[in-house]
Amino acid sequence: DLKEDGPSDNQILDYKKSHKTEQLTTGYGRPLGERSTVVTVGPRGPLLLSDFPYIEDVQRFDRERIPERVVHAKGGGAFGVFEATDDLSDICKAKVFKKGTKTRLLVRFSTVAGESGSADTVRDPRGFAIKMYTDEGIWDLVGNNTPIFFVRDPFLFQMFIHSQKRNPQTHLKDPNMVWDFFANHPMATHQFMFLYSDRGVPDGFRHMHGYSSHTFKMVNDKNEFVWVKFHIRTDQGIKNIDPTKAKILAGEQPDYALADLYNAIAKKEYPSWTFYIQVVTQEQAQNLPFNPFDLTKVFSQKEFPLRRIGKMTLNENAENYFAQIEQAAFSPAHMPPGIEASPDKMLQGRLFSYADTHLHRVGTNHLLIPVNNPETNKNVKVCTYQRDGTMQACHNQGGAPTYYRNSFNGPDVTNRDKHIEHATLESGLAARHEASEDDNFTQPRVFYQKVLDDRGRAHLIDNIVDHLQQCTDKDIIRRVVAVFANVDDDFGRRLAEKLNIDVPKKTSTATNVKSKY
Ligand code: HEM
Repeated sequence: DLKEDGPSDNQILDYKKSHKTEQLTTGYGRPLGERSTVVTVGPRGPLLLSDFPYIEDVQRFDRERIPERVVHAKGGGAFGVFEATDDLSDICKAKVFKKGTKTRLLVRFSTVAGESGSADTVRDPRGFAIKMYTDEGIWDLVGNNTPIFFVRDPFLFQMFIHSQKRNPQTHLKDPNMVWDFFANHPMATHQFMFLYSDRGVPDGFRHMHGYSSHTFKMVNDKNEFVWVKFHIRTDQGIKNIDPTKAKILAGEQPDYALADLYNAIAKKEYPSWTFYIQVVTQEQAQNLPFNPFDLTKVFSQKEFPLRRIGKMTLNENAENYFAQIEQAAFSPAHMPPGIEASPDKMLQGRLFSYADTHLHRVGTNHLLIPVNNPETNKNVKVCTYQRDGTMQACHNQGGAPTYYRNSFNGPDVTNRDKHIEHATLESGLAARHEASEDDNFTQPRVFYQKVLDDRGRAHLIDNIVDHLQQCTDKDIIRRVVAVFANVDDDFGRRLAEKLNIDVPKKTSTATNVKSKY
């Protein structure tokens, strides 16, 4: 039996125990005397427009949905706390890292390609988005459960996503599209290998690590900077689901991960993660054999050991899914002083895309919705010269001056050195710089030969074959195996054998392209 009853099965019964029935009203507060019949002319109809309680109700219902997220549409989340357990003042001035500081947070976990009602136990990266309500505004760390990504240029992101979503005519998922994209973009090798390894189907959200994946900049109070990657390691231990069981669960318990998270928290088995960073100095970054801002690459943990910075615990389920999880709007551009973006092209593309989609998905005033509002932290007061817009439901800055600079005590900047962004020296040719062959195979080779053991390699091959053989275009299969053959001869040969094709020639000889940035 795959399903055990948990607190989520009794939520509605628990509600009854703690609530008394109250007078039913319309949205505008009028008490109602009847809620099961519309007003009609005679017992058989027709209806009257004057039945506004009915009209209001159906109009409101007709508008219940907001657009689902264009990616990461299916997800679940919870509130909790981040505690800075270790001193980080030597490299970062952000108050959230001051040792001993506790910061309230929201986490939303998700799958990527499926729609809002899709199954949780599919092979797909998992989103790992964290929103911290810090004393210096919102910090959104919008990561995944994988340290790398499929592409390294943001112009390719939309194309990659289209290949993972539905076929435009059949409206079906299409293995020909998925693997054709891969065959045409060998830069995706590292991430595809991670995805088709055992980690590609984590057991719920509690048993996986999270990663910033991107390199970020940290700045201290002396205005010195370093580059960092965040690693958020599960204290529950890594646990994955066997692919056969995952397929059964996808049918029988499609909301497996949501239920698992909700029930663990309801039973007070609070999941936690330990936060670490890898620190790379500017000098080290310049001497790396690869671009430190390439999202398809990891930093070696031997060379750049994990440094512990804190602990995150999830201890509070949302009271209302729509208000607090569906409307949550995470943006990688939201960072407090001391944490900044790196030049990573993918990150730079994301800095624009998230707020843009929020203006469409949630609305102009999405930052006023309580779950997104920086003033959730009582130490934060938002003082801007932004005004009005649809659904302005807060103070709208009252009578404060609406233009800057003014002579009437409107909000002004203070403490320039403390708050101003770190100055960067950027120079170079503004052009479309080609990077598709930027060392696609060295790190995947390490993954195949050193990170995976015999069992892991066998699973990787089986999982790829299981999906790849669904391609009806046999040429795609050959081209995909030819890309994987660049990683390791054994890998290419075993894939070819299982797929009953000739061992393909390698497509690339590039192993270790030096790319100074
Ligand atoms: C969600 C764009 C790459 C993690 C989204 C959304 C967009 C988007 C438009 C929907 C947001 C919403 O409706 O609130 C992009 C673009 C990318 C990119 C343009 C590359 C250029 C990445 C990468 C990661 C990532 C590399 C992880 C390292 C997430 C997560 C969510 C998300 C976790 C869900 C956030 C939530 O739970 O609300 N992305 N994305 N994305 N993305 Fe990306």
